[in-house]
Amino acid sequence: MAGRPGRTRTAILISGRGSNMAALLAAAADPAYPAEIALVLANRADAGGLALAAAAGVPTAVVESRPFRGDREGFERAVQAELLHHDVALVALAGFMRVLTPGFVAAWEGRLVNIHPSLLPAFPGLDTHERALAAGVRLHGCTVHLVSAGVDEGPILAQAAVPVLPGDTAAALAARVLEQEHRVYPAALAWLAAGRVRIAAGRAMVAGAVAPGTALLNPLPGPLALLTPTPRVAGPE
Ligand code: GRF
Repeated sequence: MAGRPGRTRTAILISGRGSNMAALLAAAADPAYPAEIALVLANRADAGGLALAAAAGVPTAVVESRPFRGDREGFERAVQAELLHHDVALVALAGFMRVLTPGFVAAWEGRLVNIHPSLLPAFPGLDTHERALAAGVRLHGCTVHLVSAGVDEGPILAQAAVPVLPGDTAAALAARVLEQEHRVYPAALAWLAAGRVRIAAGRAMVAGAVAPGTALLNPLPGPLALLTPTPRVAGPE
């Protein structure tokens, strides 16, 4: 992953398996991709994604958060030192399980991006798939957003929606969402790295972004639903 003038040096921060990280690395393997992954940093030495990054030839770093319990600023100073050392201009959170302080977020304002497994502002926080099932929503998905001080808040860059299917388990729904995470995150990071994102009134505008021409309906309004006075109700089993 050799540097190329004009590519935005980007760090990916992870805590776990790193499948989104892997999707970003795969996208950035194309020299035409506007972000170069200059660093993968984990807050746990046992994060599975570290080995994937190393195998891809990407510099890795570990800043263990555990010794900094109760000292989030101290942890973030150590992270910031790694980011500066690797001359990073953009930071992508990919399953990074630490809440960042307002100071860190402010220092990276407009250059810090996250992926969250729900259609924000619905279901911020943890256990999003379980909560989507419990709420009975028919559409669920994921969101890539710039990070602001509130947890899972900030201008939205892109979202992908998937249907919730009868009989879904949280694991089945998570897998369906994850597949879309791997499509939407590389696209959104590319827009940011290429300087195509502008923020106005707290909302993100992406220059040249193309909206789909179709809606996603779930369940589909089949002819039976239109003709039968009391159609059978479809729903989770
Ligand atoms: C993803 O679902 C992501 O949306 C969330 O944490 C999970 C990380 O998965 N923030 P992975 O480590 O990228 O596989």
